[in-house]
Amino acid sequence: MLRFNNIRWGVILGSMLLASSVVWAQQPANSNSAVLNIQVNKPIAKVSPTLYGLMTEEINHSYDGGIYAELVRNRAFQDNRGWPDHWRILQDGNARASMHIDPSTGPSAALTSSLKLTVEQADAFSAAGIINNGYWGIPLRTGTAYRGSFYAKGSQDFSGPVTMRLVDNNTGNIVASATIPSLTTEWKQYKVALQTGQIATSASNHLELSVAHAGTVWFSLVSVFPPTYKNTPNGNRIDLMEKLAAMHPAFLRLPGGNYLEGDRLQDWYDWKKTIGPLVDRSTHPSPWRYRSSDGLGLLEFLEWCQDLHMQPVLAVYAGYSLRGEHVNPGPDLAPYVQSALDEIQYATGGTDTKWGAVRAKDGHPAAFPLTYVEIGNEDWFDRSGTYDARFAQFFDAIKKAYPQLQLIATAPIKSRVPDVIDDHFYRTAQQFFQDTHHYDKTDRKGPKIFVGEWATREGTPTPDFGAALADAAWMTGMERNSDVVIMSSYAPLFVNVNPGAMQWNTDLIGYDAVHSYGSPSYYAQAMFSNHLGNEVVDSSLNADNPRLFYSVTRNTTNGILYLKVVNASSKPQQLHIQLQGQKQVKGTATVISLIGHTTEETNSLVHPNRIVPVKSSMAGVSGDFQHTAPAYSIQIIEMNVQ
Ligand code: AHR
Repeated sequence: MLRFNNIRWGVILGSMLLASSVVWAQQPANSNSAVLNIQVNKPIAKVSPTLYGLMTEEINHSYDGGIYAELVRNRAFQDNRGWPDHWRILQDGNARASMHIDPSTGPSAALTSSLKLTVEQADAFSAAGIINNGYWGIPLRTGTAYRGSFYAKGSQDFSGPVTMRLVDNNTGNIVASATIPSLTTEWKQYKVALQTGQIATSASNHLELSVAHAGTVWFSLVSVFPPTYKNTPNGNRIDLMEKLAAMHPAFLRLPGGNYLEGDRLQDWYDWKKTIGPLVDRSTHPSPWRYRSSDGLGLLEFLEWCQDLHMQPVLAVYAGYSLRGEHVNPGPDLAPYVQSALDEIQYATGGTDTKWGAVRAKDGHPAAFPLTYVEIGNEDWFDRSGTYDARFAQFFDAIKKAYPQLQLIATAPIKSRVPDVIDDHFYRTAQQFFQDTHHYDKTDRKGPKIFVGEWATREGTPTPDFGAALADAAWMTGMERNSDVVIMSSYAPLFVNVNPGAMQWNTDLIGYDAVHSYGSPSYYAQAMFSNHLGNEVVDSSLNADNPRLFYSVTRNTTNGILYLKVVNASSKPQQLHIQLQGQKQVKGTATVISLIGHTTEETNSLVHPNRIVPVKSSMAGVSGDFQHTAPAYSIQIIEMNVQ
């Protein structure tokens, strides 16, 4: 059953069904029928239950300005040490004020600088303060409670009040407002409730922090949170989490990607700086040209996994950074190995362990499940030739402390036998079409395969239907070989489509501050993930269509046979399907179809539902029946076969 939460599928599916039947009727079929023979009761391989998962990293404003629900940009004034980027001065009426970064004071040892607001003149009718426009706007919805907070201190001659407001850009109307009556001369956190009334949903809003008389105020960690998924404080954006939930992913590879490595050695993902109270997180530069708030830190990643019933695939920094610097194996690498051991203990240790106790103090006493740990990311880029020895040092230490963990290598290793190898493929549609048999001959006695990053890179900011067809073709190959390909994850997962937000131009799910949409590739992924089965059955195809791909799996607990057919040709394809070895076949099958008119057709913020799965039922199913796969189509035929 395709499960897409909270989306009006009835309406969408109804209209898509109509549209797609027009496509089927208009096109003449490929002249040659293809014959597909399926040996229903002849399993040839197990299907990995973890085949489809997610890969995540801070790129394209995936976390800040993406799934992490914070609405204030550069909230801790750390993005630029010289100027409060993304902030502006507010000078109503005849108010006079200035702002700058003050490197001499901040609310914590992690945040040692702050924004200093100097007000020369202000009064009840002429407020002075600072303005933030969020991540391409501040999205506000009707009748909604927002959590506002900030750290502040005042000069001797300024004791408040300070007002926090959400203001409509177009009308100047105050949409929500709260006032803190007084400040002290010491750093302190203030929290307010910001409640909207009857408004239209819009991102054309800004935040104001203002005062009504002269004096000096320092601000840090200015935050506004909307309601979050499962109402978790410091949590995730609801619509994006729902889109992920609809995919039923088995795992989350975290925290990246290049994001794990950083540009320079000092920029590595030092997870210890991403846990605990937000005021104790120093923020860090990410390799994708903007600074990370680290609001979405290690514990938040693990909670994200918990919320979506995924297991974490924890990537630990292995001593190689993107500009080619590396840490020598041996004593130099030892602190990084220890950090990885500590990180594993933070995730999995009991509260009687050092780092398990820290996790409990951070609010999560229960340990998280963990099976896979990945050593580094794309270490084939390391020209120093040290990865084998670096991997061995991590491998020996982790296996000694946690023998049950499965360790993933990111490049070939000779000195040890990794449990799993991480392969990455960024390709054109044609390349994927030609390589769907990539894993057919892989040694079944060697390490398992994790296709940890892959995508057909056609279409921007999100893939078009031609890319989805190639993705689906590639997935049939992974699925057929999922006794050895045990996990896979498309990358990148997210893109904020606003101007200047994107660094990588083909991404699975697109959004702005208010709306989000799934690309055709997203729906192809969801369809495959939601109809997995647990065994690959024997089959053969006799066809002369070079762009016809398929996979057949079955679910042994309910007797459902899943036939996935990808017709990437511009012509419908006649299929003669022969089922053999079964006792009986139910005469009606369920068909889930994803169909495009052209390879360029796609979804977007404006047209989010142009290409979505359509569910229908198909009569006349028997041990020997005909089916026409529409032009440019991805179909799952769900048959009840005993
Ligand atoms: O997904 C984009 C980038 O591609 C990842 O950060 C990196 O691992 C790969 O090179």
